[in-house]
Amino acid sequence: MEKVELIYEGKAKKLWSTKDKDRLIVEFKDDLTAFNAQKKSQEAGKGALNCEISADLFDLLAQNGIRTHLIERIDATHQLVKRVDIIKIEVVIRNIATGSLTRRLGIKEGTKLPFALAELYYKDDRLEDPIINDEHAQIMNLATQNEINALKDIGRKINGVLSAFFADRALTLVDFKVEFGRGDYGEILLSDEISPDSCRFWDARSGEKLDKDRFRQDLGGVKVAYEEVLKRIKDKR
Ligand SMILES: Nc1ncnc2c1ncn2[C@@H]1O[C@H](COP(=O)(O)OP(=O)(O)OP(=O)(O)O)[C@@H](O)[C@H]1O
Ligand SMILES: [Mg+2]
Repeated sequence: MEKVELIYEGKAKKLWSTKDKDRLIVEFKDDLTAFNAQKKSQEAGKGALNCEISADLFDLLAQNGIRTHLIERIDATHQLVKRVDIIKIEVVIRNIATGSLTRRLGIKEGTKLPFALAELYYKDDRLEDPIINDEHAQIMNLATQNEINALKDIGRKINGVLSAFFADRALTLVDFKVEFGRGDYGEILLSDEISPDSCRFWDARSGEKLDKDRFRQDLGGVKVAYEEVLKRIKDKR
């Protein structure tokens, strides 16, 4: 399958149409952005790392009964996916308090939450992806209540699979963001990506951050951290 036309360029990926109207090619870029793109950089090789990490995690989730948009990884930085109608809600699942949760609510950094918290954010860069609840989502016609319930349920199921997988690899899955789309029959498909750009991973032994917080917080070693995540995905230790 070949690229036909660039249909969207986002902060981290490009979307290309193909000869098949139902399939898109996703190209993973080396660009890194944070704080709604107020902070920008590039990291050579980051696109390839995220492309492989995300494909491996989507395969793992598919093996565990989660339906995804991924058809196949084409090469180092490209994936063939099903074109979906993206639901404009970002679903964030949190196991440990950090980031905006600690800032907004004063919950102490590093607090283990009593259960996995599911949050919804309205996917709109102009509004800086504000947090919303089920009722906002319905009033704005982003999704039906049944769909919202499904997004949270699938998000929690993904959390169960990934948390156990990474715990076996001495990584703590602190939190993550996922996006979903509707397939041809309205079925909900996990879409976009799951990578160190969209997850927080802490080394289970040292607590070291192995994700985009290294970029957000100027800790350095971004690529080394992403490589370490891929390495742990590949070889259980
Ligand atoms: N299977 C798919 N079909 C259609 N669109 C998709 C699919 N998977 C992901 N997308 C969308 O493609 C874009 C990927 O680009 P990228 O992640 O760089 O965007 P972004 O800069 O984060 O911006 P956005 O706010 O649009 O998400 C996103 O808008 C995402 O929602
Ligand atoms: Mg994105």
